[in-house]
Parts: sequence; structure tokens; C-alpha cells
Amino acid sequence: MLNKIKEHILLVENFEAKSLELVEKFRIDYLGKKGVLNDFFAAFKEVPNTEKKEFGQFVNELKNKAQEKVNQLKENLEQSQENVGSGLDLTMSAESMRLGSRHPLSIVKNEIVEIFARLGFTISEGPEIEDDWHNFSALNLPEEHPARDMQDTFFIQTNPDVLLRTHTSSVQVRYMEKNPAPIRTLSPGRVFRNEAISARAHCIFHQIEGLYIDENVSFADLKQTLLHFAQEFFGKETEIRLRPSYFPFTEPSAEVDISCNICKSKGCNICKYTGWVEILGCGMVDPNVLENCGIDSKKYSGFAFGMGIERITMLKYQIKDLRLFFENDIRFLEQFTNA
Ligand code: DAH
Repeated sequence: MLNKIKEHILLVENFEAKSLELVEKFRIDYLGKKGVLNDFFAAFKEVPNTEKKEFGQFVNELKNKAQEKVNQLKENLEQSQENVGSGLDLTMSAESMRLGSRHPLSIVKNEIVEIFARLGFTISEGPEIEDDWHNFSALNLPEEHPARDMQDTFFIQTNPDVLLRTHTSSVQVRYMEKNPAPIRTLSPGRVFRNEAISARAHCIFHQIEGLYIDENVSFADLKQTLLHFAQEFFGKETEIRLRPSYFPFTEPSAEVDISCNICKSKGCNICKYTGWVEILGCGMVDPNVLENCGIDSKKYSGFAFGMGIERITMLKYQIKDLRLFFENDIRFLEQFTNA
């Protein structure tokens, strides 16, 4: 019996464990209710009286050594775990974070802004809640002007002077009122119209307005600027076509088509088999508008243009339903990268 205890003392002394689980198993094996020590304690009464003292001493030694071993191993393991953070290897390279992607409208807006920034255009912004003057009157759309009907306006409550801007042309007015000519500015922003929501129309959408005012600015400058933009954005082979149009704030006015980049002008359902798709409205700023905004129309002339960002984005990515831009469906949004 004594030899058995001595064997256990040796085993306990040499015991090593690499995990807290193993230490706990060792503790239960020796110090638990059904452990080795309790077996020896139970055997105590069978030990002859003469050997009881020695037996007791060895059992106590075994007990102390087992307890010490448990404490020491636990302490060592806990300390080393603290260092490595519960098995975490701090030297391992981290998993890269999944980045979100930009909204396709933002990607396209940024691209357009970059192209015009290279031509010296700055960015300007205006309020989404506008007054009649900046959205209509200053732009040559006096009250009762029939062209106001072209843009179904949301008015704020019952005050007809306060409305949600129907186009970013209002920012032209604000910019000209505050800044002397020459001017080269681009105004991206959100606009609102009381329209039924469909695959091709929405009550909220985005436009980018361009304004260029200087001495001797001609229609040729406008045409060349827009050709440059179209070729930078849609590709070098892109052609543009100007069709006469009407906007109250420009004279003359035009609508601009680009050669269909989807079918290469062969005819498809995007260009309705014409080979051309409309991308923007433009014209020479009406002298009345310049005067309304405090710019001398005898000295200065200029051009303006306005394009719908949704429209350009739909052409770029061949998106057929405008509502997708506003649904925030991650399966749609994560397809676009800002590369
Ligand atoms: N504001 C016009 C619209 O919303 C677009 C536009 C046309 C802007 C001609 C212009 C322009 O600056 O010159 O339909």
C-alpha cells in the first residue's frame, strides 16, 4: 500500500498538462469525491495501527502535492492564456474587413464631377426646399407661365412660395447671385416631382447642373464641352447629336443625344431602334436670367446644361428599372464597385 502511494507521489510530481481541461481532469482523478486520495483515506481503517502514522503522512504528502500541482499548473496556464488572449495568435494577420460598395448613383455622380473638374468646374450646392424665385421666376418662368406645368411641383403645405425644387437649375440662380462672373460650376443634387412611380420615373431623382459664364462664350463652346464629356464618360467613339428644344431659361435650347453605346447604334430596345439616346438638356443662358441674377448680359454670355444622374447610370450599367436605385436591396447594390 505504501509503495502505491509513493508511486502516485512520483506521478503527481512529474505531471504536466497543456490545457486547463487536463488540469481539471487531474484534480478530479486525485482530489475528487471518487478520486485516488479518497480511496486511500477509505483504506486507512484497514491499515495496521503500527503503520497508520507513516501511511497518514504519505497520504497527506500526496494530497498536498496534488493540490499544489493543480494550483501551479492552473496559474501557469492562465497566465500564458492571458498573454495570447485565450488561444488567439496576435501575430496572425487579420481577416480583411468586407467593405461596402458605393451606390451606383454616387459612382456615376463622382465620375461626372471628376470629368468636369478637370475642365475647371467647381462644385456648388443649394437647398432642396426652395422658394419660387430660385426654382422658377428667376429662371424666366414667371407665374402663370405654361412651362411651369412641365414640372409637377410638390409645394410645402399651403404656401405656394415654398416648394421642393424640381430641378438643380435653382442652384445656378443662387450661384450667380453670390458669385461674380466668370463662372464654371457644377451642381449635383436631389430633385422632386409629383410623378407616378414607375420603371422610368420616380418622385425623387438626381440631376447635375452645369453653368459656364464668361466673356464671348458661344454655342460652339457648349457643344465641344458636351462632346468632351460624352467621350470621356461613354467612350472615345461616342458621338453626340443636338436637337433644337425649348427651356425658358436658355435661348437657344437643345436636347443632347449620344450614339447608343449598347448596340453601337445598330438599333436596340434601349435606343428604341434609333441608334441615339437622350442624355441631357442644355442651351445658352437667357440674358434675362443673367440680369435676374445680377450679371451684365451685355458683357457676359454662357451656357448651361442639366442631366439626370439616374438616366446616365441606367445607360452605363444597362439598368432597366429606375426603382432599383431606391429600394436599398443589397443584392443589387453590392454589384457595383468604384473601380
Ligand atoms: N432643368 C431642366 C430639367 O429639369 C434641365 C436643363 C435644361 C437644365 C437645360 C439646364 C438647361 O441648365 O440649360 O428638365
